[in-house]
Amino acid sequence: MQLENYIRDIQGFPKEGILFKDITPLLNDAKARKECLDTLVKSLKNQKIDKVVGAESRGFLFGILLAQELNAGFVPVRKPNKLPYETISASYDLEYGTDNLEIHIDAIQKGDKVLIHDDVLATGGTAKAVCELIEKLGGEIVQLNFLMELTFLNGREKIKEYDIFAAITY
Ligand code: PRP
Ligand code: MG
Repeated sequence: MQLENYIRDIQGFPKEGILFKDITPLLNDAKARKECLDTLVKSLKNQKIDKVVGAESRGFLFGILLAQELNAGFVPVRKPNKLPYETISASYDLEYGTDNLEIHIDAIQKGDKVLIHDDVLATGGTAKAVCELIEKLGGEIVQLNFLMELTFLNGREKIKEYDIFAAITY
């Protein structure tokens, strides 16, 4: 099965000049979704995972499936002021300006083996900020995985010290 066939190109979304990769066809097909999940799980080669960390919002989708499959905890990293308990935050660059991501301070224990998941690796800003949060809490990053990597944006450069896997590359 070609997972690429379940990613839909949308020209000009969310604004002119951008070719958006829409994962909703993949989510909407049980077989393709399972195949994608299996591909991500296989890439871990049976390494033990204590926590799967997913980045809001599209990282929550397969993040929770991965956590279930790996019998691990699931930890949401969220945009500012969304998490109710005490948090720490890390900033990352947007096209214009910066934003922050937050995590609950008790979500990761020192030495936890952590898998980070997000739907897309683009510039790598989001992924880098998530790495910072996990390491501040003493977690050990086993892998970062993505449904898609947009290689032409060189996001990998920002997180090159880690193991990175993408089910689909463009
Ligand atoms: C998108 C995407 C990744 C991130 C990748 O999320 O889902 O999380 O951008 O870009 P980067 O590698 O350049 O940081 P977005 O912030 O648009 O939010 P969403 O997931 O809530 O749609
Ligand atoms: Mg996102």
